[in-house]
Formats: sequence, structure tokens, C-alpha cells
Amino acid sequence: MRTLWLWSFVFLLCPRADERMSMAQEANYDEAKIPPYELPDLLLTTGGEQVTTAEQWLKVRRPELLRLFEEQMFGRAPSRPVDLHWQITDEDQAALAGRAIRKQVTIYFSKDRSGPRMDLLLWLPKSVSGPVPVFLGLNFVGNHGTHPDPAIRLTESWMRDDDKAGVVNNLATEQSRGRDQSSWPVAEILARGYGLGTIYYGDIDPDFDDQFQNGVHQLYHGSGRGGPTPEQWGSIATWAWGLSRALDYLQTEAAVDAKRVAVVGHSRLGKTAMWAGAIDERFALVISNNSGCGGAALSRRRIGETVQRINTVFPHWFCDNFTQYNGREDELPFDQHGLVALVAPRPILITSAEEDRWADPRGEFLSAFHASPVYELLGQPGIAGPDMPPMHQLSGGRIGYFIRAGEHAMTKMDWEAYLEFADRNLVRSTQ
Ligand code: GCU
Repeated sequence: MRTLWLWSFVFLLCPRADERMSMAQEANYDEAKIPPYELPDLLLTTGGEQVTTAEQWLKVRRPELLRLFEEQMFGRAPSRPVDLHWQITDEDQAALAGRAIRKQVTIYFSKDRSGPRMDLLLWLPKSVSGPVPVFLGLNFVGNHGTHPDPAIRLTESWMRDDDKAGVVNNLATEQSRGRDQSSWPVAEILARGYGLGTIYYGDIDPDFDDQFQNGVHQLYHGSGRGGPTPEQWGSIATWAWGLSRALDYLQTEAAVDAKRVAVVGHSRLGKTAMWAGAIDERFALVISNNSGCGGAALSRRRIGETVQRINTVFPHWFCDNFTQYNGREDELPFDQHGLVALVAPRPILITSAEEDRWADPRGEFLSAFHASPVYELLGQPGIAGPDMPPMHQLSGGRIGYFIRAGEHAMTKMDWEAYLEFADRNLVRSTQ
């Protein structure tokens, strides 16, 4: 993880599309060339015991599987910092022409307010009285990039340079306001009675291999304290940790129904949403969009991005232990259907895009299908059969699956599926 500066440098210089294209050229996309593989049985403990009851899953197998994912893939994160605290820096009760409440909250990870912190942008619908369910997701572009509202603070955190998008000297400029609003259809979400919370992922940990010195890692590593050990957090686990800290705040927000928070993310942040939902059972629903390798896609299929590729190009995303499985997917003590199953019995929606072959849509679907026995053991419907459903049709039960035409992106059409799935599954608690 710590020796691959060159790859990170190459990655920093690459515009995303070119980067994806060149990596994609060498990848296998041919189903016929997938080596034969056998998925680990989710309902068999490492000691060889068959899991036949919900209790056994919840008390024995789930904790065991969670620990394996933690130690071998994402890395263990610290618990909530004692000095975690927040300050509401902005509150507008009549935002978006009176349709929304907009809040901005700075969440500090330590007592020292000049230390690492993250900014949460929270939208709540004005039309609903009482606590509302909320979608919570990290964004790639800074909170100000998710919506054109001029009152949203420009992020001050490190950002990958992008002249055209208005990021200069690794800092966002006004020109980048609203640049990714198509990924965050705020008005539609609010109109359906949901709130939306979002945070720039680089507030928590800037997305490059910096030997774990910046972002929240400053508090735990750096200054001669040494980097993470091989089973400690990589960046995905760190971003997921940040989502949990945002949920710590949301639990104190009277206007939010914290028992109905859906964690959502696209691509690397879709992997992050899945891990956040697995490790933190307070998340009531999980949505993974185009999450691919290390997210919903089965690693053993080795279609598109592989374990070796992801560990090489993004050496900081996973813990060091995960590199043992480079080119050795069959030795993994789990596959990604296990990550889906860790969310059970809570609802999870996996969404794919037809042209996003790098993320292996079929592998994303098969994870959902192969996690179904765990849901069924817990009395919840999963995915009925191994055939992919038609496009543009939300299918499944408590595990949902949706595929749309088009490329790797989070679109309004994806959000329509999220909202429909949430309407079906994020039912108001009776207490
Ligand atoms: C790269 C990477 C993927 C990731 C994606 C993204 O394409 O290979 O694993 O999901 O970036 O986050 O945009």
C-alpha cells in the first residue's frame, strides 16, 4: 500500500475517462473466459458448521464474516472519537423558494477546531411535518458542487485539479458550483418526503496515497506515530467511518428520523456505502450504485476491474492485507455476496448501468442473487433467480436490483429507483 507512489501519481494526472479507458483495454470482458470458480458458502462457518437458524447467522456467522471483511479487505476503523462535536453554521428555513430547510453543519473530529473536520449539507422537505427519513451520501465534488444554491459553502479541502470543472491548485472555485447537480436531484427527493445529507468525501480523507497523513488520519497516524497496520483502515473504511460520524449527528437532529437513514453512494463511494451499511447497523437501508470491484461485483468473476488492478492503482483504498489476494481471488475467505449479506435483514438496493462493464453489472447482480439465502433465512425475500431482470425495472424483495441503459454515473433515473425502493422498504417505525 505504501510503496506505490508512482501509480498514485499516474492516477492523479489522469482524467477519469482516459484512466478508465486505458485500464479497461487490458481487462477481460468475455464471460467465456471467466475461470471456473466456487463461491464460499455464506451459511457455512469457517469451522465447518452449517448455519440453519437466524440466531446462528446473527450470533455466530455474521460477526465472523464481518471480522473477515474488516481484517482482510477494508481495515478496522477506530470507534467514535470522544471529542466529536459539531456546530450548525447555517440554517435557512425558507431555502429553495420556501420548499426546503437547508442546514450546514461542521462536524469536528477532535477538540481542536483547526484540526480535521467535515461539512454536512442537509436538506429537509418543508412540506412534511415530523421527523423525515434521509438519504445520506458522500459526494465527489464538494457540497457546493451538488447544487447551485450560492449559500452552500465552497469546500476548502483538497480536490483533484480539473481546469474545466473549476478546480485550480487543488482548490474549488466558484466555477465549480453545481457542477454535479445531475447526481443529486434535490427537488425530487424533497418532493417525495425525504431529506438529503451530503458530505465531500475529501473532507474525511483526500483521495490519494499520502501515507495516511492527511484528513482524519492526522489524528491517528503521522507525526512519527506510524501508518495503519495491515488490518487497519484504508480510505474506503475511513470514508465509511465519516458516514457513521454524520449519523452520530443526525441522531441528535429532531427533524430527522434517524431510524430511517439510507446510506447511498456511487462507484468508489458505492463500495463505501456498502461497507458503511455492513459495519454500522444503524443505517436502515443501503444503496450501492455502479460499485463494481470491491463493492457489489463478485471478485472471482475477474470481469472488468480485478483485485490486483484495484490494489495497484488505488493502493490506499483497502487495508494492506487485501493485497495478498492480488491474482488469487480463489483464496479470499469471502466474496462480495457476503458484503451484501452483512446488511441483512435490512434492505439493500444494488444498481448497475449497462455500459459500465468495468464494474461488471452481471457480477453486481449475482452478488445480490447469491446473498439471497441469508435474507431468506432471516424471513425476507431476496432475488428470486439467477437471470438478470429486464432493464429499467426495479426487481427483487428486500434485496433490490435495478439496471438502466447508459454509462457509469448516478442519474435521475437511478434516484427514481432509490425512491421507489425506499418507499417500499423504509417504513416508518411504530415507536
Ligand atoms: C475507477 C475504479 C473503480 C471506481 C471508480 C470510481 O474506475 O477503477 O473501482 O469505482 O474509479 O470511483 O469512479
